[in-house]
Amino acid sequence: MSRLDLVIVLAAGEGTRMKSSTPKVLHQIAGRSILAHVLGAVAKLDSKEVRVVVGSGKDEVIKELGSIAPAAKSIYQEVRGGTGHATKLALDGAAKSGQVLICAGDTPLLTGTTLSELVAGHKANGAVATVLTTELPDPYGYGRIVYDRSGELDSIVEERDANEAIREISEINSGVYVFDLEPLITALTKLSKSNSQGEEYLTDVISILKGEGKKVSTYLASDFTEILGINDRAQLADVSSLMRDRINDSLMRSGVSIVDPASVWIDLDVEIESDVRIEPGVAIRGNSKVETGAVIGPRSTLIDTEVGAGARVFESHCEASKIGERASVGPYSHLRGGTVLANEVKVGSFVEIKNALVGEGSKVPHLSYVGDAKIGRESNIGAATIFVNYDGVEKHETKVGDHVRIGSDSMLIAPVTIGDGAYTAAGSVIDEDVPAGALGIGRARQVNILGWVLKKRKGTKSAQAAEKKEGSK
Ligand code: UD1
Ligand code: MG
Repeated sequence: MSRLDLVIVLAAGEGTRMKSSTPKVLHQIAGRSILAHVLGAVAKLDSKEVRVVVGSGKDEVIKELGSIAPAAKSIYQEVRGGTGHATKLALDGAAKSGQVLICAGDTPLLTGTTLSELVAGHKANGAVATVLTTELPDPYGYGRIVYDRSGELDSIVEERDANEAIREISEINSGVYVFDLEPLITALTKLSKSNSQGEEYLTDVISILKGEGKKVSTYLASDFTEILGINDRAQLADVSSLMRDRINDSLMRSGVSIVDPASVWIDLDVEIESDVRIEPGVAIRGNSKVETGAVIGPRSTLIDTEVGAGARVFESHCEASKIGERASVGPYSHLRGGTVLANEVKVGSFVEIKNALVGEGSKVPHLSYVGDAKIGRESNIGAATIFVNYDGVEKHETKVGDHVRIGSDSMLIAPVTIGDGAYTAAGSVIDEDVPAGALGIGRARQVNILGWVLKKRKGTKSAQAAEKKEGSK
């Protein structure tokens, strides 16, 4: 791979059009900040040093850099003086010879492959500067690429400074360049601010170098989506869906079935094995992993969740959880942080589970809350059981053994232990341990007051219905 001496990422812009308290480059796409995507592409290059020019929201941006690219050096640009000014600042104390790649911090679709091709193209073409260009269906707003009569690059003209004829040009400056450092450093000293924005434009370096008789060149990127930048929320949405398509295409090529790719949003760091089937309306985020043969969806969200081979998750929301092999969840259930379902566990409808271990083959089929619990193997938690884990001040743990049968509508008041093979009677409030093999009953004995309706509800339809039956008096 071609060696670079320096990479400069320009990311000091204000991002005013985002209308956000979050710096533009920290907005998220597919689980990573915009800046993290750019630095991910840059990381594919072999560069001695990476410098990032920060300005607006610098403290937050520097913090993000600390986690995504700790080796990168941040350079503070206090006042926005233009891309040329930002480059000058970034070069202070950096390498003085060799090659530098310069790109912007707001183009998250750029790939390491395209950057590497640009670097290789620059090394091959004998130019002192190579501009990554592309042809856009609508070039409005971008710097246009102007060639001289012999077909050689002449200059880059910004939209605001362009005449009619130049605005017709569809080949645009992507804002990514490779320069030989020595001529760049000299040319930067010659920049002026005599343009419509009164800023020092990095793009002017091209005509300066050309005027010095040096060769400048272009490298045309075939996929124009790679250079799309983000200036507002609409572009954020456009770029996000392009990223979604890219991720889904790559998963489908690797053997994942995605029934309706336009409705499926999978973060870049998610791992999905082949023969997984993803139904419409699914989001899989963070550090999630889905093993082979699993079926996810429709309309499920997995966040930082692992799903074992052959498991099924329907219309459910799962966060920081682990779902075992051939387990099944949903429809309409909520796994919260710290849920671990062993293999072949069944979690049915309207069940919420938090910080709980459910042992192999156990079932929580209907309408239950399980919190701060350990449940053994092949136990059944009857419908509408509540693990009462909170005494109003502290949380307590419930232990349920193997082969336990919790009767429907039980309240298990923690801390409490239900021994192996034990039962609880339906409708019980269990606040004492139930020993192995015992039946725990925690409810008042039933009393039937015969004839009560005929006496107290005389003349009602209930009384009339009761009158027809023998033994109702
Ligand atoms: C720039 C190019 C234009 C190109 C376009 C591609 C110039 C003069 N023009 O225009 O030819 O088509 O990118 O997207 O370079 N920045 C700083 N400090 C500054 C100014 C800018 O760090 O003082 C950063 C911004 O945060 C941004 C990048 O440089 O990441 C580009 O600046 P921006 O204002 O977006 O330039 P464009 O007008 O888009
Ligand atoms: Mg821009």
